[in-house]
Amino acid sequence: MTPFTSIDSLQQALQGAGYFADRRLATAAYLALKLQRPLLLEGEPGVGKTELAKALSQVLQRELLRLQCYDGLEQREALYEWNYAAQLLHMRAVEGRESVEEVEREVYQARYLIRRPLLQALQAPEPGAVLLIDEVDRADEPFEAFLLEYLGEYQVSIPEMGTIRALHTPVTILTSNRTRELNDAVKRRCLYHWLDYPDRERELAIVQARVPQASAALAQQVAQFVGRLRSQPFANAFQRAPGIAESVEWAKALVALDTLVVDPEVVSDTAGILFKQREDVAALTQDLVADLLRPEPADA
Ligand SMILES: Nc1ncnc2c1ncn2[C@@H]1O[C@H](COP(=O)(O)OP(=O)(O)OP(=O)(O)O)[C@@H](O)[C@H]1O
Ligand SMILES: [Mg+2]
Repeated sequence: MTPFTSIDSLQQALQGAGYFADRRLATAAYLALKLQRPLLLEGEPGVGKTELAKALSQVLQRELLRLQCYDGLEQREALYEWNYAAQLLHMRAVEGRESVEEVEREVYQARYLIRRPLLQALQAPEPGAVLLIDEVDRADEPFEAFLLEYLGEYQVSIPEMGTIRALHTPVTILTSNRTRELNDAVKRRCLYHWLDYPDRERELAIVQARVPQASAALAQQVAQFVGRLRSQPFANAFQRAPGIAESVEWAKALVALDTLVVDPEVVSDTAGILFKQREDVAALTQDLVADLLRPEPADA
């Protein structure tokens, strides 16, 4: 199932694909592969939940299939639907020549089935797919209930065709921003990992890997500033702390502005990259920025 024989080798491979996982996340991913269980990732926005699925698809050399969830997502968009137009054409073509039973059998055959990500994942050729069920908290509860059969047994039931089992167990990643609590039954079928903000060292490595144009000194300043923003007492001033995505974007912006040293002025000019809420941008006052930029005892 997994070409990786150790947590270390998986962690290394992910890093080679530009994804920096800490030991706990690498362990969760390793176990998900080894035990063939879905992995549920919860965490704040922009901490690398979606990206892990992409990186896994790359290192496992498996096709990535993505199901983006939203309120009102229906089975036919997740699993399959019948191609009514083609079925209708078929029926017209054989009208009067065949019995109703015959026509029924013919229009409900695989060629008239439109496969959506869940079904595609079950029927993917060797070595199987990576299925990303992204932002599952946005879908409604009936949809979650519908997922149980897939998550527990890697199979689905199609009334006209019976039960379809996975040819090769898909590597399945679910993500949630925790806008609501997920059903216990879904959680029980998954391994669970809470993705936290990275420590400074890992954030620095990510910024350096994603924005190679940034000097080491600038990348340092970005990792340090954002790390501090998320720490107490500063974090209290904001509704939503910047994620890794924001650090990466900010580093790109600073490079584009030829910034050598992060000072209060450049922070204020680029605050809209770190924060996406008006209140948070306003909370980033000159005084607060001066505090954030003050050398820490450990840095002195
Ligand atoms: N561990 C990581 N290693 C390398 N890059 C990362 C990592 N985590 C996040 N990133 C960077 O941050 C960006 C955003 O990550 P991602 O889209 O996976 O966040 P998310 O947790 O899915 O956020 P959201 O909840 O908003 O969907 C990625 O495109 C990548 O550039
Ligand atoms: Mg995401």
